[in-house]
Amino acid sequence: MNIIQVANYEEMSKHAAQYIIEKVRANPYIKLGLATGSTPKRTYQELVKDHRENGTTYQHVQTINLDEYIGLPKTDPNSYHYFMRRHLFDHLDIPSEQIHMPSGTADDLLKECVRYEQLIKEIGGVDLQLLGIGQNGHIGFNEPGTSFKSRTHIVSLAESTRIANSTFFPSLEEVPTRAITVGISTILDSREILLLASGSAKAHALKRLITEGIHEEFPASALKLHSHVTIIADAEALKFV
Ligand code: F6R
Repeated sequence: MNIIQVANYEEMSKHAAQYIIEKVRANPYIKLGLATGSTPKRTYQELVKDHRENGTTYQHVQTINLDEYIGLPKTDPNSYHYFMRRHLFDHLDIPSEQIHMPSGTADDLLKECVRYEQLIKEIGGVDLQLLGIGQNGHIGFNEPGTSFKSRTHIVSLAESTRIANSTFFPSLEEVPTRAITVGISTILDSREILLLASGSAKAHALKRLITEGIHEEFPASALKLHSHVTIIADAEALKFV
């Protein structure tokens, strides 16, 4: 794992955006695996700014998001569909048919898992997977204990994850209890992985990721099984390393 330490959230975002922009310019047909949450928000702003100012095009790019809450329609402001449109897709020139996200409202959720996994295969897999990390080490919504062999599946969210994400909801009760997420094995199939982390809330998780062993109780440790992982993290997130 290649670790790049930066000063703060702002620098992490600029660095990550530049990293992604260079990949998109080098391969205009790139398949980008994308995450939601507070971590990549500013990175997405930077991608939008660059698209406006420098004309980097996403006309041939395909995006594959990691996860979605079960039960929230695409129009719900707390859905990841909504988040991605608002923070990124609505501001780029990417055709909507090249945007892929798992549906949290499919009638048959198991079929939806199979469809999503198949789709990733059909488009040729993910070239660059962007990841955040949960305080408990989750990647995507793969909570502690998830098999490293997992493919797209339905998960029950850990209480700590629901609490961490409740800041976006009117109350904790309204945070969904389940989500659909690509699996750890699916993530590891990506040709390259870029993990971002900012702030002291992620410091214990990063210490564990960087200094401890590989274990299913700590999902992010699976990344050590991958040969091309870059971590861009700020000083607060790396303070225990
Ligand atoms: C989101 C996702 C999650 C987040 C993680 C960190 O699509 O897959 O693993 O990356 O929960 O969330 P933030 O960035 O809000 O701290």
